[in-house]
Amino acid sequence: MHEHDVIVVGAGGAGLRAAIAAQEAGADVAIVTKLHPVRSHTGAAEGGINAALRDGDDWTDHAYDTMKGSDYLGDAPAVETLCKDSPKETIQLEHWGMAFSREEDGRVSQRPFGGLSFPRTTYAGAETGHQLLHTMYEQVVKRGVTVYDEWHVMNLAVTDEERPSDRSCHGVVAYDIKTGSVEGFRANDGVILATGGLGQVFDHTTNAVANTGDGVAMAYRAGVPMEDMEFIQFHPTTLPSTGVLISEGVRGEGGILYNDEGERFMFEHGYANNDGELASRDVVSRAELTEVNEGRGIEDEYVHLDMRHLGEERILDRLENILHLAEDFEGADGLEEPMPVKPGQHYAMGGVETDENGETCIDGLYAAGECACVSVHGGNRLGGNALPELIVFGRRAGQHAAGDDLGEPQITTGKSDDYEPAEIDSPVPVGAVDPDEGTEPAAADGGAADGDAVLDTAVEAERERVEELLDSEGINHAEVRSEVQETMTANVNVFREEEGLKQALADIRDARERYQEVGVSDPSRTFNTDLIHTMETRNILDIAEALTVGALARNEFRGAHWRKENQHRDDENWLKHTLITWNDGEPELGYKPVILEGEDKTYEPKVRSY
Ligand code: FUM
Repeated sequence: MHEHDVIVVGAGGAGLRAAIAAQEAGADVAIVTKLHPVRSHTGAAEGGINAALRDGDDWTDHAYDTMKGSDYLGDAPAVETLCKDSPKETIQLEHWGMAFSREEDGRVSQRPFGGLSFPRTTYAGAETGHQLLHTMYEQVVKRGVTVYDEWHVMNLAVTDEERPSDRSCHGVVAYDIKTGSVEGFRANDGVILATGGLGQVFDHTTNAVANTGDGVAMAYRAGVPMEDMEFIQFHPTTLPSTGVLISEGVRGEGGILYNDEGERFMFEHGYANNDGELASRDVVSRAELTEVNEGRGIEDEYVHLDMRHLGEERILDRLENILHLAEDFEGADGLEEPMPVKPGQHYAMGGVETDENGETCIDGLYAAGECACVSVHGGNRLGGNALPELIVFGRRAGQHAAGDDLGEPQITTGKSDDYEPAEIDSPVPVGAVDPDEGTEPAAADGGAADGDAVLDTAVEAERERVEELLDSEGINHAEVRSEVQETMTANVNVFREEEGLKQALADIRDARERYQEVGVSDPSRTFNTDLIHTMETRNILDIAEALTVGALARNEFRGAHWRKENQHRDDENWLKHTLITWNDGEPELGYKPVILEGEDKTYEPKVRSY
């Protein structure tokens, strides 16, 4: 057994920032990660970091833009914390040596991004995440934080009290991808989940193959509510054949979207008469797909993004990476021709429910970054607000787990007094096919008093699971995974309707049943990707189902969630967060209020136009 004060799961931006903060607060910290830190998906973040740094800008304007962008589903205390702390966290990165793009006078450059009332997105060319990741990894190395890389975390070691809010987390169980051994990692003070996105639930995504929502699924099965899972961001500019991201920075620099008739449709068809291409992402993605659906798409599939007029010098200075991506993945030369783009899954606004300190309702269990829902993005995230979330809330989770007092949170977690239970209206059974299949929280007699026993029990259960999987024969995980991905892309995409959502639940049920027949054909214990992908596929199933249950129930149009049956935001009935909680193998649906009261003002919901 390995033992540390704080265990961070995942080594992207949130995980690294949490580890640095916990180490600075005096904790012995370890990171357990299935990828080497600099291969984390944060490295693919292109656009930038929103921070009110300049004269004429103010964190309160950033907060207003973020609340509006969220379609009033963000919680004001979290949004205000994000916007207040982002400038100092960004300056901290600069002091650690991050290579930001700069103006002639040496100031860090900022550019416009969608939904912002001020050009407040700091950036490093079109490779901001790459620079951020390397900068923080240097700090982790410098501070001697232990990194266990190529360890796939399989489960959390959590006690089994009936109510999740009485449970406590004592560590994690991980599979060593290099040797095949399964071991326990004891966390004396806290476990911080920072496992990033869940894009592999869809088949057209900007996310890496590793983004299988592992942290979200583990916390869900341990009893933590999943918040607002139905809110998925579809980025307007992804390459049609691969899903590779073409940064919003292209439109921030002046890139223009055209349909097949050569019309600048964002203006000419009235989708966003003020901001055009720089409306928020949900608006632009719906506009593109409307163009395609109404017959003005190119090859009935995509639109064009043109940046040629920016000129070679500016493109090479600020967007060079985009030229390489368009050429390498789509064969398009962005200096000579427009690039084909279409919406693709990019980001999960929802995730593991936490408070402003990153803490979940389970004692000792934290989450930060994309896998968490604090909630700063609500119904739609603004471009450039993901990286500040990683550094602001990664730091807070690290500090709090290490014992720093960050004050009483205003956001409640778990089934608190204002929890509103609801019925799931599914055409098929939802939840585990076989509740004994290992989807329950790890348990131990003796409860929280004996964390080692809790961890030992969890390790034994996962060792058995690995042996069973290695002995199994049957269909390949890829069949199950693609059934889920295809139905999610077909039915739980930008435009959603009841019939399609019900179809998705039926397909997910079928995939769950087929998962019972899955077999691992590679018997090896070294770099067995067949085994790892089989384990990840279970996470994909649980997440896809929770997301679709939330989407079917929310019969309104808010942010990125559009419903054919009710194409209006319905504040009277739906100004509330969705919570989905795993209870003995079955998802339970409920809601909690949104907090619109900030420090000095209330963010009254307004009509949202750009
Ligand atoms: O378009 C982009 O560069 C992505 C930025 C973001 O998701 O914040």
